[in-house]
Amino acid sequence: MNEQEIIDAVIGKAKEKLQVFIDECNSQKKPLCDLRIDWKNPHYEKKELQHLYMLRYFYAYLLEFWWLFNFIKLDRFNIFSIGCGAFVDLLGLFTSNKSYGKNATYCGIDPVDWEYRDFIRSILPHNYEINFQQQRFEDYVEMPDGKNVLGRANVIVFPKSIEYLDTSVWKKIVEETDFKENVIYLVMNAMDFDYKKDVYKIDYFAKLLETKEYNISDIKEKTVFVPQWFCQFPDSPQYPSDVSDSWFFKLPSQCISYAQCANEECYLKKYNSPIYSTGSFQYKIIKLVKNDSQC
Ligand SMILES: C[S@@+](CC[C@H](N)C(=O)[O-])C[C@H]1O[C@@H](n2cnc3c(N)ncnc32)[C@H](O)[C@@H]1O
Repeated sequence: MNEQEIIDAVIGKAKEKLQVFIDECNSQKKPLCDLRIDWKNPHYEKKELQHLYMLRYFYAYLLEFWWLFNFIKLDRFNIFSIGCGAFVDLLGLFTSNKSYGKNATYCGIDPVDWEYRDFIRSILPHNYEINFQQQRFEDYVEMPDGKNVLGRANVIVFPKSIEYLDTSVWKKIVEETDFKENVIYLVMNAMDFDYKKDVYKIDYFAKLLETKEYNISDIKEKTVFVPQWFCQFPDSPQYPSDVSDSWFFKLPSQCISYAQCANEECYLKKYNSPIYSTGSFQYKIIKLVKNDSQC
């Protein structure tokens, strides 16, 4: 499958599944008020919100990871993804061309079992060793093999909205982990409104690694809002137009309460298109190198 086919397949699946949910609500005369992603308390365990997330954000986030992995130069990727969701980061690595022909190990940690993981896994190459643990990061590392798996990582991916993570335990986690790799990349892509809070946290993780004899050797960062930033990728795949132009735009009108609804904060009315641009995309990548290594 090429990148365009992957995007078409994931978005097509999300549209189909969300339509089933909407039809069910309509048959029960239930309005769609709960179909909203509240960033403070997102409830990703609800399948309909996973479908909405994929419809609205998957395309942009995939291209973001695609972009991010271009900065990471490694012969072999051992990825530890905190809050991995549907494995969009791993798909980004795969589509970035950096991994063709290379082996990758991936351990994704998330308390939520995203429906899309199995599908995304099925399109990834067999030379990827993929594991998933349905846990909070803080609990996973307390399991017998947790710190060994973290210690083998050379790429640690932090989720958007890191605020879910309990940083009070990070010091102990880093102290007790035997980090084996000479080079470790910390990767964070953040919401525009969360950037300052989130970046403070990966800086903190980097500081903790400095106490384990790592030095920061490089930092890549984008902190500014640039509208239509995808214009830099003329060959990038497209969001499927049948979904964006007609179906997504008409989503609010599928709600039985649409005609009499005065709620200007209705999620479906307010966000009735997918994210196409990296305008609000902000990221930081910190490369750390072990003191005594030649990297
Ligand atoms: C905004 S989503 C990002 C998902 C994915 N990384 C992506 O880019 O699409 C944040 C994810 O973090 C997960 N999460 C929340 N608290 C967590 C924790 N304590 N440890 C690990 N993951 C957590 C959520 O379940 C959710 O799937």
